[in-house]
Amino acid sequence: MTNSNKTILVIGGTGMLGKPVAQQLKADGFNVRMLARNPEKAQKLLGAGYEIVKGDVGNAAALKEAMTGVDGVHISLKGGPTEADFERMDHLATRDIAKSAKEMNVGRVTILSAYAVSAEKADTPESRSKFKGEQALQSSGVPYTIFRASWFMEALPLFVQGKSMSLIGNQVHPLHWIAAEDYARMVSKSYQTDETLNKELYVFGPEAYTMGEAMKIYADYAGVKVAPISTRMLAVLGALTFNAEWKGMAVLMKHYENWGEDGSPDKANRLLDAPRITLKEWCEENRKLR
Ligand SMILES: NC(=O)c1ccc[n+]([C@@H]2O[C@H](COP(=O)([O-])OP(=O)(O)OC[C@H]3O[C@@H](n4cnc5c(N)ncnc54)[C@H](OP(=O)(O)O)[C@@H]3O)[C@@H](O)[C@H]2O)c1
Repeated sequence: MTNSNKTILVIGGTGMLGKPVAQQLKADGFNVRMLARNPEKAQKLLGAGYEIVKGDVGNAAALKEAMTGVDGVHISLKGGPTEADFERMDHLATRDIAKSAKEMNVGRVTILSAYAVSAEKADTPESRSKFKGEQALQSSGVPYTIFRASWFMEALPLFVQGKSMSLIGNQVHPLHWIAAEDYARMVSKSYQTDETLNKELYVFGPEAYTMGEAMKIYADYAGVKVAPISTRMLAVLGALTFNAEWKGMAVLMKHYENWGEDGSPDKANRLLDAPRITLKEWCEENRKLR
């Protein structure tokens, strides 16, 4: 079966990490369908050539409609910052999608997870819900591929406010920063071989930098200064100002203080070609686009 005979549903395809996957699948010749809460926004963001089904992931009827006749479903949702919302998006939505996919005989479900997701590392609302989501998918009976990705280069600009870039916590672990473009290519390629079925794939970029080192590289390109702040201070500021995002960020970054990468990317690199884009190349490209 050629790619053009296959339809892949992307859930979360308007997101920072879902959009490149939808675009890559389309570039590789798949028919791409999106489940979108706001079809006009999705159409504007992605342009022509995508089928769009209106719906929320919490709506079972919309999910079924979107899954009708598809060969695969890619999940790229984001929960938080409250515990209830992590549970809704990272666990329950994945469970419901996997259940529907199984009932509808979908060929496979792929999902973006993260490297610090495991029983041992399930020590925050987000990592617990992501772990439960992975377990629900693994036990659903639908063929799956889980992408346990490292930190994305695309996350770096999110730490910039004005002329300053927040380095939150004591981030000592070397991380293999990956470009969304490389990851998207790997997700699309995973649909072109059965060797990726029922596997957890660690997706790591070509070079390792601690968060501080990566931020310094990005900050130099972006013309901003890196400003360190402890997770405790951010949590206090979040509590004093009732800022749920800051409180959530303090919890998230404490998690990454504790856990470095310990999976091996060898399987993903062998099956899907190793990521190539370096952080400096990405920054250079990103600077041209700014
Ligand atoms: N940042 C990193 O380095 C990194 C590393 C590994 C994994 N991840 C994970 O990657 C995932 C995706 O992150 P992201 O930054 O791409 O998130 P994002 O930009 O916020 O995108 C989330 C997507 O989910 C859709 N969505 C949200 N609620 C929905 C609902 N109820 N029904 C249907 N669609 C809904 C959004 O659609 P709308 O357009 O309707 O809002 C959007 O398309 C997250 O789980 C994150 O933890 C991130």
